[in-house]
Amino acid sequence: MAGIAPQACRNAFRQVRGFHVSASQNAEARLKTFSIYRWNPDKPDEKPYTQDYKVDLNTCGPMVLDALIKIKNEMDPTLTFRRSCREGICGSCAMNIGGGNTLACISKIDTNLGQTCKVYPLPHMYIVKDLVPDLTNFYNQYKSIQPWLQRGDGKDAGSKQYLQSVEDRKKLDGLYECILCACCSTSCPSYWWNGDKYLGPAVLMQAYRWIIDSRDTQAKERLEKLRDPFSVYRCHTIMNCTRTCPKGLNPGKAIAEIKKLLANISEKQKPGLDAAV
Ligand code: SF4
Ligand code: SF4
Ligand code: FES
Repeated sequence: MAGIAPQACRNAFRQVRGFHVSASQNAEARLKTFSIYRWNPDKPDEKPYTQDYKVDLNTCGPMVLDALIKIKNEMDPTLTFRRSCREGICGSCAMNIGGGNTLACISKIDTNLGQTCKVYPLPHMYIVKDLVPDLTNFYNQYKSIQPWLQRGDGKDAGSKQYLQSVEDRKKLDGLYECILCACCSTSCPSYWWNGDKYLGPAVLMQAYRWIIDSRDTQAKERLEKLRDPFSVYRCHTIMNCTRTCPKGLNPGKAIAEIKKLLANISEKQKPGLDAAV
């Protein structure tokens, strides 16, 4: 079969793309209003406010992050937000869109032009600027649960491969996928009021992830660190966390499992394989 010359292929692609771009630019503008929270730390006397931007959806990608990038590139370079992967993996673009916490890069723009899209930072957080929340406390809390494999066997880290049965590995499903975007924690009323002492759903789900890992031998010590009135027990099973998670995870359930372990209603199973063999 005769091959298609790469140059001819590139030209054809350029023509098709050029046709689509000019067609969308000539179409009647579909202006959508984005009302965005603004606050500038360099002007501390100015109160936070919302600023409206009109974006032509004909020349914008389909996601809210596309609109934010377009606003920043073409209308207002001072608009500040975090983003990196633009595919729901890094967690940086977490914000409050239309009243719910989610990731801007996987949140589709509502094409109803009569409806304003309201964009705020994650709720009840200190703000660095505009849509950028200060996550220092969140990361310190994550650090506090020591999110790494611990065996207490004196062996050097990385010197050995630890085995895990297929069944034990399955227990980590629904936990390891967390991207630490903080959407769940910042949707939790208990975290809003006691965020300094209550660890919140994201961090507790990661605590549980390490507690039940068959290769980790420190479950008892990990649980003891959580045994106080605030770290876990401020969770009142309101389940905002699970409802909002953009990755479809269930941190509320993980917290319930920690409570069962703390109350000796359940216990960690013995590993299916001796990890150290
Ligand atoms: S559990 Fe979901 S919402 Fe919470 S930090 Fe992880 S990915 Fe984000
Ligand atoms: S289930 Fe617990 S962690 Fe989740 S929102 Fe409710 S109180 Fe917060
Ligand atoms: S940019 Fe990475 S999750 Fe949205």
